Amino acid sequence: MTKERIRVENIIKLFGESAQAGLKLLQAGRGKDEIHDETGAVLGLDNVSFTVNEGEILVVMGLSGSGKSTMLRCINRLIEPTSGSIKVDGTEVTTLTKQQLVDFRREKFGMVFQHFALFPNRTIAENVEYGLEVQGVARKIRRQKALEAIELVGLKGWADKLPGQLSGGMQQRAGLARALAVNADILLMDEAFSALDPLIRRDMQDELGTLQRNLKKTVVFVSHDLDEAIHLGGRIVLMKDGAIVQSGYPEEILLNPQGDYVRRFVEHIDVSSVVTLGYLASRGIPGLFEQSKACEAYPIIQDKEGQGFIVTCDRNMPVGRVSRDALSATTSQNMPLASLMLRGVQTAPARTILKEVLPKLAQEPEGIAVVDDDGRYLGLITQSAALRAISGSTGIAETHELTGETPWIGQSPNSRWTDTVTSSSAG
Ligand SMILES: Nc1ncnc2c1ncn2[C@@H]1O[C@H](COP(=O)(O)OP(=O)(O)OP(=O)(O)O)[C@@H](O)[C@H]1O
Ligand SMILES: [Mg+2]
Repeated sequence: MTKERIRVENIIKLFGESAQAGLKLLQAGRGKDEIHDETGAVLGLDNVSFTVNEGEILVVMGLSGSGKSTMLRCINRLIEPTSGSIKVDGTEVTTLTKQQLVDFRREKFGMVFQHFALFPNRTIAENVEYGLEVQGVARKIRRQKALEAIELVGLKGWADKLPGQLSGGMQQRAGLARALAVNADILLMDEAFSALDPLIRRDMQDELGTLQRNLKKTVVFVSHDLDEAIHLGGRIVLMKDGAIVQSGYPEEILLNPQGDYVRRFVEHIDVSSVVTLGYLASRGIPGLFEQSKACEAYPIIQDKEGQGFIVTCDRNMPVGRVSRDALSATTSQNMPLASLMLRGVQTAPARTILKEVLPKLAQEPEGIAVVDDDGRYLGLITQSAALRAISGSTGIAETHELTGETPWIGQSPNSRWTDTVTSSSAG
């Protein structure tokens, strides 16, 4: 079961003394500039809502000034939202008292910033210990926990060095270790890797993914870089002028960018190297059970497109293909599909990116059967679906409401395709 960790609802942030006056104008339907001209208040967040599930990385993206940091900082109230609700594990954060908030932050959140924010005169270990020190954890225990976190981020042997003796990438690791040491399982990361060289940055993204999966961390990650967001693999919330303009998995955003702002973000990305087969597979026709008879299977495909259909075994694994003609022929009405089908069918796992399967797909006019991690049939990927995706005219990928029922919400990207559709085969 997917567990919701963070629920942000209708968050509005107006900066400035006259935030409340600004809020009234906003509620009366007035725009950012008008509000600013009349009250001096700056609209930072405009009715932002999203959820984050356990073990998920949610990437908050957008150009500079779009409100990413403001949104992230509202989650633990480093910035006070002007109105709206933020629930973390069911607790309404916006109404916590000062002391409750201090305790709540310690218990729930680790934070990693772009510029490391390490104390220059403390050793790496002392920096990493800092959060535990504040919590009043005994010296010996906090050192031990700090060393564990330092090892986790690959900095073993550097505990007694000063930050100035480490490279930028290593300092960023130390920043991550500090967030991990407090054992809070929600990480709030603001452009955490932006200061790093591209290669080191990629390493850190990979490591974050591994840590997140192994330690089951829930991560909200701010970035202005779509490549980074795609690589991290979670859902994306794309912001503009303090509001969410689009949200969804990278595939959804790439295949159906809503509006020019989003389109400009995605135009340099090679769709075929991002979109997975699981996403493109057509799920309209279930696998036809090999023991069912032609007269039972035919009604299932009668009004469907295509000439060939996938036949599956009792464990819903593709075993062959049967043609429309064979199914409709009067002579074959009572024959089981097993005796009508052509045995053998090309399959590919749902998590495969389109690019990898293109050569194989080019050889298969009838398409390739897409399967989950256990080899069970999910749907068919055809040459035309692949071409439509590459040419940016799929029309198949509808962007799901962020808080709506996307089938994969809250699952790590790699577990998205392990769910199987139950075969409603004619058996
Ligand atoms: N303390 C503040 N007072 C007034 N306006 C602010 C304040 N902090 C942020 N803003 C405004 O709120 C908007 C969003 O800022 P924010 O820092 O969240 O953007 P960002 O998306 O994180 O940008 P960047 O990528 O540059 O970090 C901007 O228009 C900014 O000018
Ligand atoms: Mg920022």
